[in-house]
Amino acid sequence: MDNHKPEIRRIAVFTSGGDAPGMNAAIRAVVRTASYYDLHVYGIYRGFDGMIDGQIERLEKGDVGNIIQRGGTFLKSARSERFMTREGRQQAYEALTAQDIDGLVAIGGNGTFTGAKLFYEEFGLPVVGIPGTIDNDLYGTDYTIGFDTAVNTAIEAVDKIRDTADSHNRLFFVEVMGRDTGYIALNTGIGSGAGAILIPESKVDLDILHRHLEKTAKRQKLFSLIIVAEGNENGNAQKIAAEVRSRFPEYDTKVTIIGHLQRGGSPSALDRLLASQMGYKAVDALLHGYSNVMVGIQNNKPVLVPFDDAIHKRKDIDHELIRMAEILSL
Ligand code: F6P
Repeated sequence: MDNHKPEIRRIAVFTSGGDAPGMNAAIRAVVRTASYYDLHVYGIYRGFDGMIDGQIERLEKGDVGNIIQRGGTFLKSARSERFMTREGRQQAYEALTAQDIDGLVAIGGNGTFTGAKLFYEEFGLPVVGIPGTIDNDLYGTDYTIGFDTAVNTAIEAVDKIRDTADSHNRLFFVEVMGRDTGYIALNTGIGSGAGAILIPESKVDLDILHRHLEKTAKRQKLFSLIIVAEGNENGNAQKIAAEVRSRFPEYDTKVTIIGHLQRGGSPSALDRLLASQMGYKAVDALLHGYSNVMVGIQNNKPVLVPFDDAIHKRKDIDHELIRMAEILSL
């Protein structure tokens, strides 16, 4: 974790990678905190792509009014191919120095921090990250911005599927997002009372699923809800449903993929609070000379985590929760 105190006068904030509800609240917190400390704040549009193209505009306190409740990101987002090249990063650096930017706040996930870390190492421009991703897959923080809202959206959707599944006595596989991790699936499954939850972190989940289906079939209870994380290594919901159809023909099996619904919507109270705390802390960290770090939240307190750890260490899922979910589904 780097901590030497350069003079910070002009900072820029941007959002990058998959958007997440609460990103606007985080931008607001960054702009308001920086303004409080008499810094000039700039917004970079379209993430690293906009940085390369010099889409950088001054933001005043009033420009971030009326956005705390809005989903998406008003600064827009992108997954930039060009920033992966040395030439792209050089162009981005020139665009930032043209505006005399001396600090960056990067809001995004793993890919965003990987780019930000490289940029810091190459050009020495201080950068602090804020974890904004619905996946909750970053080491060093109990929660990422957008996760809580995404889980609430998924639970609301599963509650509705439950109504029709129950009426028709059907087995539903519901696929939720989570490229490499099962956080959304696990919390959605527990919160919606699912029969089984299939996540990349659990090797035994197909056994649990089969046990569950055998048991409920014996009881002539052919209605069930199974939550599948998209990154599940046994395959996506369609593939698993196809296998179940041939092994358990007595079930009337359907599949629903909730998809990008989970990325939108007004942020929950928890995400607004988290985003506000993290935005405030990110500016404070830059002013105290920190760089190459992500703001995290641990036991409700903001902390600073080296980018290296946030990017490379794996956040372990709580296996006791997996066990609990199985017990509660019986
Ligand atoms: O990382 C967030 C996330 O929503 C993942 O859960 C999902 O796999 C991915 O982004 C989808 O990305 P895109 O919107 O670029 O298809």
